[in-house]
Amino acid sequence: MTGKKLHVKIKPLGILDLLSFKNLVPGRKKRIEKAPGTSIDPLPPVNALAGKLHPEIQHLVVDQIKDETGDVRTYRLVPDKEKGTLQPAYFRPGQYLSFTFEVEGATVTRPYSISSTPGEALSGFYEIAVKRYHDGFVSRQIWDHWTEGCAVLSGGPEGFFYHDHLRDRQNVIGIAGGTGITPFRSMAKSILDDDLKINLVIFYGSNKKEEIIYHEELKELQASSGGRIKIIHVLAEEKLENFEHGYITADLLKKYAAPLESSIFVCGPKPLYRHIDRELKGPAIRRKFIRKEDFGEIEDVSSLETYPGGAAGKAFKVLVHRGKEAVEIEADAGESLLVAMERAGLCPPSSCRSGSCGVCRSLLIKGDLFIPEEVDDRRQADKKFGYIHPCIAYPLENLEIVVPRRKIE
Ligand code: FES
Repeated sequence: MTGKKLHVKIKPLGILDLLSFKNLVPGRKKRIEKAPGTSIDPLPPVNALAGKLHPEIQHLVVDQIKDETGDVRTYRLVPDKEKGTLQPAYFRPGQYLSFTFEVEGATVTRPYSISSTPGEALSGFYEIAVKRYHDGFVSRQIWDHWTEGCAVLSGGPEGFFYHDHLRDRQNVIGIAGGTGITPFRSMAKSILDDDLKINLVIFYGSNKKEEIIYHEELKELQASSGGRIKIIHVLAEEKLENFEHGYITADLLKKYAAPLESSIFVCGPKPLYRHIDRELKGPAIRRKFIRKEDFGEIEDVSSLETYPGGAAGKAFKVLVHRGKEAVEIEADAGESLLVAMERAGLCPPSSCRSGSCGVCRSLLIKGDLFIPEEVDDRRQADKKFGYIHPCIAYPLENLEIVVPRRKIE
């Protein structure tokens, strides 16, 4: 028979490939037969590490209480080992903890910056500073009920208000007002621990000298820092030697630091942010080098220029779906949907309470609401498909929403 010869070239490596493919299933069966009958470790090491760094809840106990000024106290918190928290989760200087409280039948959360250091978390404790406000729903609860030995429930450390060598400059200007000094205390102490390699100039605004929190400690940190930490106190209501007087201004920053070559971190009450925004306006300081700790709610939403007229003072009905249940609650126009739900005893999940963490993310089914643009950090897709953050959403008419359940319910 004549005909064309068929030339098929099989490369040696191709044969090896075919063989290993053919042996794939029998090989797997053999390995399964040989394997011990015991179950595998339920938690792979990487998941165990993730759980330690980002626990959903931490059971803590109040260990010590220290008066700082007339209306500010430091609370030292240690893990409640009996309830399963063996070690405070590690964090970055500047992060916060979100605490859960039962107040007058409602479950609410509040974030507080950690004022201690990551090194101190490793040795077994956190510290936070709490100012007592006259009409403070939660701060009064802490002052009146957190006694030594009291059990406290918190989430893991959170937030983006920390120095990162990849995005921030090595020279850092900290602008603090009132208890806004707490994350900078953590940063300053971490510099001395050699955990944070930055140069820090803190501009700390207070009304009077007696209101300065950690005054002596800050002096000592500066003295032993070898020039890495500088603290400028600015008093609004007193003129004293060795203190600046008035408000923290761009000129003051230039007098003691180099704002154009620094990352600028701001933490304090909301009016301080508006003031600093005005001071740092202009192209000279790039926005990406300004970082604000923005947890906490908007105090008076109707005072915002963008707030639509007509809704203020009204109350609306909100139908809230949660799992299989649906509950109708009442919400005032001036309160966020998160507060309205907490007031109604629904206890939705929350953490930052300022629109940045996404923990409260919910779905709007029906109705119109107001979300201030300056705190609206939602992704484009969330905006398009109707997802909202109830902590920064204010009703303008009757609504229907779907909210997630708290994981610790
Ligand atoms: S609680 Fe953080 S986005 Fe609402």
